[in-house]
Formats: sequence, structure tokens, C-alpha cells
Amino acid sequence: MEQDTLIIEGAGGKRLIRGTVQVNGSKNDAVQAIAAGLICRTPLKLENLPQIDDVSKMLALVERLGGEVKRGKRSASILPPANLAHPKLDEEIAEKIRASILFSGPTLARYGEVTFPHPGGCVIGERPIDFFLHGFRAMGARVVDEGKGYLIRAPRGGLRGATIFFKNQSVTATETFLMAALLARGETVLKNCALEPEIENLVNFLKSAGGRITGLGTTTLTIQGGKPLSPKRAYRILPDRIEAGSFAIMGSLLAEELKLTHCEPEHLEALLNLLGEMGIGVKRGKQSVTILAPKGELKALKVKTHEYPGFPTDLQAPFTVLLTQARGGSEVFEAIFEGRVAYAETLNRMGAKIEILDSHRLKISGPTPLQGQEVSSPDLRAGLAYLLAGLIAHGKTIVHNARYIDRGYEDIAHRLTTLGLSIKRA
Ligand code: EPU
Repeated sequence: MEQDTLIIEGAGGKRLIRGTVQVNGSKNDAVQAIAAGLICRTPLKLENLPQIDDVSKMLALVERLGGEVKRGKRSASILPPANLAHPKLDEEIAEKIRASILFSGPTLARYGEVTFPHPGGCVIGERPIDFFLHGFRAMGARVVDEGKGYLIRAPRGGLRGATIFFKNQSVTATETFLMAALLARGETVLKNCALEPEIENLVNFLKSAGGRITGLGTTTLTIQGGKPLSPKRAYRILPDRIEAGSFAIMGSLLAEELKLTHCEPEHLEALLNLLGEMGIGVKRGKQSVTILAPKGELKALKVKTHEYPGFPTDLQAPFTVLLTQARGGSEVFEAIFEGRVAYAETLNRMGAKIEILDSHRLKISGPTPLQGQEVSSPDLRAGLAYLLAGLIAHGKTIVHNARYIDRGYEDIAHRLTTLGLSIKRA
């Protein structure tokens, strides 16, 4: 793969940043918005799209299904085919990204059938799809396990409304069944739904396009089925709270002052409170956040990941890098994904003192200076954590498999270079 490596010259303890960075549109909002195109019968226009790999792949999947996609600079317009006999997600693309599962519900609901491979994506432990299969069955569909993937057929006359209880709050399962239920017959009640801001944005959009949904802001959503939607406005992608959070952590490590613009401070509450507890200066603006260097040493703390509005699992690895620089013993409890702590071994190779207690828990002793190393991204967020570690380390860090980082962070090397950091592609 071309230019799949990042070479970083570490700051070695200096605070090099004094500047501003703009936060882009949210990856996880964009991918579900693209899937929502499939339940519309007139073109769906998307605005504030980030220019990242996962977005390109989701748009390509719509095209491979026979849909029409027009791309703008940070926008796109999507029109799915009116009819399809045996819709099948392009295997090669779909198995590369977990978000491809978001097409399953809308495609099945719209065309009565869908074939898709087991969705791949980042290696962050087990990522089962049992909630999806269970939900489709509850709506009357027949699931055929074809080994590499699944063929799902709706009953004659289309999916039937049902009551579905999710065992855990799942972001993409909530989104998938919201969309599928809008084209089903009768009422669907989804229980134990996720509360992430991307879901709120999706529901508000679907309602504006004629979807009948109640319960927003609670974990029970009730949906009345009907016909494909006719959007009356564009779907505006939210600012990426995980990108914003990653930059806030970077600022906490490396900035005298770093202002994040075009973000939503309310979506960052859990992180910003923790930064404050550690001694970092945090100023909240209307659509901005400013991170200020701490007055003294950073304080250690305990953190546990949680569904929104709790501390996001997607910031856990980057935040651990910050904890390696805090005085005392910190603890991390990854409560959402099993195995999403393995990256800590690489941080130890760089000089961190992290004990991996089990597949969910870390114990960190700090502060420890870090040394540049040659490392390889195992997934998007751990890759970003290595990049941060490299940026504060002494000497040079080489991050291979940078394509994982590109899946979620647009043009990262260039954007960080303009902040005065030394990072280039090779
Ligand atoms: N789960 C199951 N069965 C399922 C689905 C989920 O057991 O069928 C479990 C998962 O194993 C996990 C929990 O439910 O323990 C919650 O996972 P969830 O389904 O919410 O994760 P997701 O929807 O696959 C989204 C984001 C992830 C983010 C998680 C958690 C998108 C496209 N992806 O994934 O984002 O980590 O929610 O917030 O929205 C990332 O951006 O780096 C990323 C991985």
C-alpha cells in the first residue's frame, strides 16, 4: 500500500502547539447517513461529509448495489435503485468495514432480501452481529448462514413490525433497525437503544423526511412503518466528537494552547471533565473548546468506558497515552469491547509502565518518558494512540499500517504539520 507509513519526530517533552484545528464531520454519523439513502425514494443530500476511507467505501457500496451517487467536495447525493431482485453487498468492500452492516436492514426492508459478508473492520476483539440476526428474525425474516456471509429474506409482503430488545446498547444495531422499521408493516418497538448523538441526528433527519418515530432521548424507540421517505432537507453530518476528543487529548499532551473549532462541546462532556480533573485547562465555547497547558503535573485517575454520555471506548486508547504522563497510578476499565487494551504492550515498548490486568483492564504508573519506536497500527483508535505516543516521545517513531488511521482521521499528517508538529508520510 502506498504511503502507508507515518514518520514522526517526537517533541521529547516540549509543548510545541499553539494554534487552532478545525474538527471535521463525524465518521460514525456519515456512515449511517449514507445507509439511510437506501430508504429514500428521492435523492438524499449529505453535507459536512469527512473525506475519509470509510465514507468512500460506503458510497462505493451504494454504487455497487446499483444506486446513483454524486460526489461533491464535502457533500454527496444518493439515489438508490427503485427495484432490485437479489441485492448483494459487494463482498470485497463490505468485508473490509464494520459499518457495512448498516446497509443490511435498509436493503432488506426496501427490497425484501439482502446478502452480505460478515462485516470486517478494525480488530478490536469480538464484534458479533447476533443482535442483527435476532432482530431480522423477530421481524419475520429467514436467515441463511452461507458460511462466509448471510442471505436474509423478508416474509411475503415485507418485514413485520416487532418488539426487539437489544441485550447491550448497540449503536449500529439501533440505527439499522430504526431504518428497517420505517419500511416494515405496522409498529416496531426497539428497547435498550443506544443514546449516542449520531442516533439523535438520524432520528431528527428521518422525522423531517416523514418517518414516524417517538421516544427520542430515551432507550425505547417506537416506529410506525410505511413507505420510502422523501427528504425535505439535506442530512447535515455532526462534528466528529471522537476526532475532537482525540485532538483535545493531543492538546493536553503537547499544547500551550489549542483551540478546536467547529465542534460540539456538549458531546465531549465526559472527556472534558476528566481533563479538568487531571489539571488541564479547558475553556468551553459555543462551538469550540480551548485546551490549555496544566499549571503543574498531570494527576492520575480512574476511567471506565461507557455508552454515551459516558466516556467513549473510542477515546480509551488515546486517553491511556495521556495517563502515562500523569503522576501516580491510573486505572482504565474498557467495559464495551473485550480485548481493546492489547495496544498497551506497544506503549510499554515505548517506555510506558502499563500492567495489562486482563482483556478489559489496565493499570498505569506514571509519569514515564516515552522513546520513539517502530510500531504498527492494529486498528483506527490504537493507531491514533501510537501516533500521539510518537508525537510526545524522544526521537523518531515509525507507524506502519497508517491506513487504519486514515479510515477515521482525514489528512492527519498535513493537519498536524500545520500545528507545528513533525509528521510525514513515507
Ligand atoms: N454487540 C453484540 N452483538 C451485536 C452487536 C453488538 O454483542 O450484534 C456488542 C458489541 O460486541 C459491544 C457492544 O455490543 O460489546 C456495543 O457495540 P456496538 O454495536 O455499539 O458497536 P458498533 O455499533 O459496532 C459503533 C461505532 C464504533 C464504536 C462503538 C461503541 C460505528 C460505525 N461504529 O460500533 O466505532 O466503538 O459503536 O461506541 O458507529 C470507531 O469509530 O473506531 C469505532 C469502532
